Amino acid sequence: MDLHVIGPLATPAERAAVDVVLGPAESGWRGGGRDPGTDGHVARGGHEARGRRDLLLPALHALQDRVGQITQPGLNYVCRRLSVPPAEAYGVATFYALFATKSRPPAVAHVCDDIACRLAGAEQVCADLTRSLGPAGEPARDGTLSWLRSPCLGACELAPAAMLTVAGEAPLRQTIAPIDAAGVIGRLEQAAAFPKAGPGATRAMAPSAATGAPGASGAPGIEAHREAARASVPQAGEPQLQLLRRVGLVDPTSLDDYLANRGYQALEAALAMGPEAVIQEVTESGLVGRGGAAFPTGRKWAAVAAQPAQPHYVVCNADESEPGTFSNRVLMELDPFAVVESMTIAGFATGASKGYLYIRGEYPLAEARIRHAIDAARANGYLGASVTGSPFAFEIEVRRGAGAYICGEETALFESIEGKRGEPRNKPPFPVEVGLFGKPTAVNNVETLVNVLGIVGAGPGGGKRFAEVGSGISTGPKLFCLSGSVGRPGVYEVPFGTTLRQLLELGQGVPGGRQIRAILLGGAAGMFVGADALDTPLTFEGTRAIGATLGSGVVMVFDESADMVGALRRIAAFFRDESCGQCVPCRVGTVRQEELLARLADRVEVRSREQELTLLGEIAQTMRDASICGLGQTASFAIESALRQPELVAL
Ligand SMILES: Cc1cc2nc3c(=O)[nH]c(=O)nc-3n(C[C@H](O)[C@H](O)[C@H](O)COP(=O)(O)O)c2cc1C
Ligand code: SF4
Ligand code: FES
Repeated sequence: MDLHVIGPLATPAERAAVDVVLGPAESGWRGGGRDPGTDGHVARGGHEARGRRDLLLPALHALQDRVGQITQPGLNYVCRRLSVPPAEAYGVATFYALFATKSRPPAVAHVCDDIACRLAGAEQVCADLTRSLGPAGEPARDGTLSWLRSPCLGACELAPAAMLTVAGEAPLRQTIAPIDAAGVIGRLEQAAAFPKAGPGATRAMAPSAATGAPGASGAPGIEAHREAARASVPQAGEPQLQLLRRVGLVDPTSLDDYLANRGYQALEAALAMGPEAVIQEVTESGLVGRGGAAFPTGRKWAAVAAQPAQPHYVVCNADESEPGTFSNRVLMELDPFAVVESMTIAGFATGASKGYLYIRGEYPLAEARIRHAIDAARANGYLGASVTGSPFAFEIEVRRGAGAYICGEETALFESIEGKRGEPRNKPPFPVEVGLFGKPTAVNNVETLVNVLGIVGAGPGGGKRFAEVGSGISTGPKLFCLSGSVGRPGVYEVPFGTTLRQLLELGQGVPGGRQIRAILLGGAAGMFVGADALDTPLTFEGTRAIGATLGSGVVMVFDESADMVGALRRIAAFFRDESCGQCVPCRVGTVRQEELLARLADRVEVRSREQELTLLGEIAQTMRDASICGLGQTASFAIESALRQPELVAL
């Protein structure tokens, strides 16, 4: 693919959409009208345009939202505006699942067929949609609608789930759950017929929970917030909660409500104690990252603060794409100011004046709430050149992902913000030295950051008090995402050390008197355990002792009626699809793993079962030892763990 400057050219709608992000084109060289007086024969502004490469993804989103796909003329226009070679930009556009580079109807339902939704009947929904609309990916209803299968949409507690995207002057993204096929089609038709709300507007709707009624993105009123909280956080309102203490009690769109509920007390304490003392408290708290790698947060912040290179950056990792994980979404939807405040404290401690929040494209409501919180914080002096009147300056920019699990890996996330394919970097150097834009960067998960409010907000000694909760290296409260065959799925906050059995009891156990077949701990990159693991304490050490992992806090229950083979095949397909393809062991290994599982499941005998299992072990070992990043290294964990326990899955 190359520039085709003699046409076809981008339509006025495409150009206008891109210009909203990039500003008007300044010269003929940059895709604007040619002015012989100023343009002459000398190209100006190329260096400056290339310096804005990080706006490539926002510009591609603008095209996708406006016309429902990234056409070649539209891509050419973006390339001229940013001085990016078209082949490279095409490589970026095709990397992300939510960007379409081929013609597609404007209204699309992305229907989750991942593991939790499968347990809740997603395959039936897909079969019904196929009957009514035709196969996934095909245009239906005179080319106005289509549907696609999607990996986990991060709404597993309300499963089965779907996300609607409708391109146009007033583009729409909307998550709906629980769904059935008739509901999806009805909402698609209704969404496609929405009145125009003006260019650039993105309406987001709350997961509709049991009612099916769309919650508006604006300020739906405290009762609607409470209802959303009850649907996703069964403990909402309970007095012992720390991380979820405001959920369901405050209006997440109200800064006043936040302030009235201990909001911004932690920032005030941080500014009073100074950056070193903040890092000291966080270090003494023993807080480790909740994004999966369990790295000590205090050490990470101290390392960034000590770097002589400037500027420093803070990045909030809100990509949350691990199947079965939704706690970050719930925090952002129902207590967004807490995320903004904790990022500000991270910036203060690490000497950063700029933060980025990278949120997955499948979280429209969370994104709307976070953007609103940032605007309100800025308007009231909690962000900007002088945070609460102090000499500390801090700004936050939101970047939307576009459907790529790998972009949760911290260095792939940097690449994505920089406007590239989300391909992980080799480490070292680590992000604390060479991170976003090559500068020292503290990257933290949403839940990790929100923990900091309790530590710093408690003032001097807050770190030590935090460390008294939990055990060993697992200190403080922890959010678990409970889904699958449980009476009350949702986000639960418990102290580290709570047993699996106790957590399941909080979630009202397996319904209908059925028995537990297996429990998936840590998500697709985690492990399956059996009912014999119910007394395991949920700590990093406790799960490690039984050969499992806590990962990002997924606890997904499969009862005796669950299709375990189908779940394993879905996990294998997930990794095959999400591998960035950069390194051979993962790119080839994930394909071979899926093929092997298919042979076992379909009883295709190429070699004996024992030989197949040996081969699977070798593939897994190669991926573990020779992959660049955690995706390849963990891609066989869940599958291997299940096959090691024939009582969990008969294959
Ligand atoms: C394939 C892959 C996906 C990841 N996805 C996420 C994610 O969605 N959210 C997250 O916080 N961390 C994710 N991580 C971990 C990040 O690389 C990083 O460790 C984390 O953001 C650091 O923040 P923390 O120390 O607060 O946990 C992922 C890692 C890998 C290898
Ligand atoms: S392990 Fe997989 S996802 Fe990670 S860099 Fe290699 S190919 Fe990409
Ligand atoms: S939303 Fe479907 S599996 Fe998570």
